[in-house]
Amino acid sequence: MSATASDRLKQSTWASHQRLEQSAFHRALQAGQLPLAAYVGWLRALTAIHAELERKLDQSELPAVRALWQPQSDPGQRRLALLQQDLLHFRYDLLADVAEAVRHTLEYVARLRQLRADDGPELLGVFYVLEGAKLGATLLQPLLARTYALRTAGLRYFCPPASGLRQHWQGFRQRLDQALPEAAQQDRAIAAAQELYAFMARLLSQLGDSGVREQRFFSFSFNPQSGNHPVQQQPEVLLAALRATDRCLAEWPYFRQRYGHLGCLFGDSDGAWLASLPPLGSRVVIEQCNWLAGVLAARGMPSFLLARHLELLCDELTRACPLHASDWQLLRQAADSLDPACDDAPAAALLQALPRLSHQAGLANNSDSQAAAQLLLHALLDEQRRGRGQAADMLQWLTSATDRSAAGCAALQRLLTAAQTLLKGTP
Ligand code: HEM
Repeated sequence: MSATASDRLKQSTWASHQRLEQSAFHRALQAGQLPLAAYVGWLRALTAIHAELERKLDQSELPAVRALWQPQSDPGQRRLALLQQDLLHFRYDLLADVAEAVRHTLEYVARLRQLRADDGPELLGVFYVLEGAKLGATLLQPLLARTYALRTAGLRYFCPPASGLRQHWQGFRQRLDQALPEAAQQDRAIAAAQELYAFMARLLSQLGDSGVREQRFFSFSFNPQSGNHPVQQQPEVLLAALRATDRCLAEWPYFRQRYGHLGCLFGDSDGAWLASLPPLGSRVVIEQCNWLAGVLAARGMPSFLLARHLELLCDELTRACPLHASDWQLLRQAADSLDPACDDAPAAALLQALPRLSHQAGLANNSDSQAAAQLLLHALLDEQRRGRGQAADMLQWLTSATDRSAAGCAALQRLLTAAQTLLKGTP
């Protein structure tokens, strides 16, 4: 009988696995001496990898992939949100990244991104390694808990399921064997699994001796899904940026409701980048903020939200570093430049009419409905400026992804129609 996919995968990668177990990184962890930055660096790399892998698995329509990737019936397969939550736990520790490890991770993620729709065996090879690593996580979890005094927060990715891990793994292996019966497919899965092990070995060695390597902050340090564009390096500036995100999220629960943990992670990486712009001068700050406003508006974040974020950033940065107050004022200027009412009479008239239109549409007089009305009208104004169907997208989200009543949904629809009519009728 020919060898099964799972047996061949284990045989071909077990030597690499043992090298990981013998690595300096693992030895330092066993001795309780692994620096927190090395652990968090590992979480960041895993976040970038899981984001790409889970996206690819979601997109795949290959029966072999569908047979293995079943997050509806097995929600534990989705682990990106656990990693994001773990990262949020360490936000205020403000840990820089080993530059080489960030580069190495993003190169690996780029290779994952290049996998094509019919690269099912490669996807399953990568999935095998990360799913199998859950077995080892049962040993790593107590070490991590003890070293960093963690309970669940900061350790979710490594927390084993309450029971049945072995049985679950057996089921996974059986389905893998059925999905990859041919030697040629198995060879492709093995090559992908070996590539991930090779990546991991190098990553852990880079992180393990982080003391002797160049460390910096990148946007990756705040949000591994944001790439690695340059950000501010000064800790007090970065801490102010994190506080600005917190205030923005508290004012606008929409960010968390729609984007989950990414709302905070992107708030931080954008804030750390925005805070690096003022030395480049007013024109660049305004240009870059307008560019970002367009990107965010196309993803469901009307530009008045970025304007508010910029105001809060300016406020926090001025408080943290008052010597550079004039620099931070450039962020406030950029916020003003995003105000749709500043050089657009119809937009100004619409915003002024918002309370009346909301009342006439029958919108409830509570903060949630008023926030929804603002989001909707600003999405419409973005659409007028940037033209990409933002209003329909926002209405769709407000009426389907929230637990709004049918009457509330109808009121929002009426509000949008009235706003569109008003804009058409304004000279
Ligand atoms: C460095 C510390 C690690 C330790 C102590 C460790 C330990 C273990 C243990 C005890 C098993 C169960 C072996 C068995 O009884 O069959 C296991 C399985 C596995 N581990 Fe790890 N592991 C570690 C790291 C990793 C990493 C970083 C990866 C991924 C890159 C990984 C991937 C796997 C896979 C794929 C399996 C399943 C192998 C199979 O049965 O086919 N491990 N690990």
